[in-house]
Amino acid sequence: MKRVLVTGTAGFIGFHLTKLLLSEGFRVHGYDGMTDYYDVTLKQRRHQMLLQTPGFSATEDLLENHDRLMQIADEFEPEIIVHLAGQAGVRYSLEEPRSYIDSNIVGTFNVMEVARTHKVDHLLMASTSSVYGANEDMPFNEVEKADTQLTIYSATKKANEAMGHSYAHLWDLPTTMFRFFTVYGTWGRPDLALYKFVDAILDGRPIDIYNHGDMYRDFTNVDDLVRGIRLLIDVPPIRPASAEEIEEGDSLSPVAPYRVVNIGNGDKVRLMDFVEAIEEAVGKEAIRNYMPMQMGDVPATWANTNLLQSLTGYRPQTDFKDGIKQFVEWFRDYHDK
Ligand SMILES: NC(=O)c1ccc[n+]([C@@H]2O[C@H](COP(=O)([O-])OP(=O)(O)OC[C@H]3O[C@@H](n4cnc5c(N)ncnc54)[C@H](O)[C@@H]3O)[C@@H](O)[C@H]2O)c1
Repeated sequence: MKRVLVTGTAGFIGFHLTKLLLSEGFRVHGYDGMTDYYDVTLKQRRHQMLLQTPGFSATEDLLENHDRLMQIADEFEPEIIVHLAGQAGVRYSLEEPRSYIDSNIVGTFNVMEVARTHKVDHLLMASTSSVYGANEDMPFNEVEKADTQLTIYSATKKANEAMGHSYAHLWDLPTTMFRFFTVYGTWGRPDLALYKFVDAILDGRPIDIYNHGDMYRDFTNVDDLVRGIRLLIDVPPIRPASAEEIEEGDSLSPVAPYRVVNIGNGDKVRLMDFVEAIEEAVGKEAIRNYMPMQMGDVPATWANTNLLQSLTGYRPQTDFKDGIKQFVEWFRDYHDK
């Protein structure tokens, strides 16, 4: 079975993806710096679970440590790289912009160097729906221009897309960039709305609802998301002979084996419907603290998932109410609440 180097395996998405890959018999080496952006114990628990599964090994270090990353790759000899480690979070990027430059720009460059040196079959890297920035035409489509990033977080991810394109072009490195849409699910991140809301409601604390609740998100269940990643591993982009070969709606570059793919649920959910579903799953009403829009935030996101479906035959389907119920069960069990 193939050897896959996954960065960010102690993180939310990397953990779920690795579980899926291991269940299919892949060998996975995880690389994660265990940064303290949020509770490191949660990251350690995720890694401990993975380490109990045959086929998984891991290194704890920063992406910025280029020599270590290269040495690990020399030993493991990956055929595929899935790069998910990075500094996430839209709001935190207003407080600590430098950590985005270090992890996302320098770190991603180091991963690309490893991919180039090892001539991997396919490099897949995480971007975000936030790169659509101030675009208003929805659902967001990969072939539309996305040039109005509103935060340094989304700017670093857009830069990663450009960096990925250049390496795909120069070194014939098949590269897929994912644009993820508001991912939620079990073992989720404490800085994301679902986790914060469930925690506060259970404790009887108020929840902050931005833009007075007039927000829409394309909430994507993590199990659906990692299924999409898994299927895309098998579809490395192929450099087209000419631009005419590219099918309508395909973001394939005319000059590189490079493509951008949305992974979302393909549905936009009103924030207040999301809150009501949480209240129902928890069995308790929230104390609502209505707030104005936050700087750098956008009122709505919604993915066009036609490209994902045409490449893989797959479209995420989980209803957000079912996903929320699963999350609340996990949260109560994990925190014994
Ligand atoms: N969760 C979402 O809704 C969402 C949406 C869009 C994009 N993304 C992107 O998907 C990727 C994974 O997100 P996630 O939700 O799993 O986040 P996460 O924070 O749970 O996971 C990221 C992991 O990367 C590690 N990391 C961070 N900086 C590092 C560095 N410099 N060196 C080594 N390791 C480092 C962290 O320790 C963490 O375990 C990120 O690139 C994120 O920007 C996530």
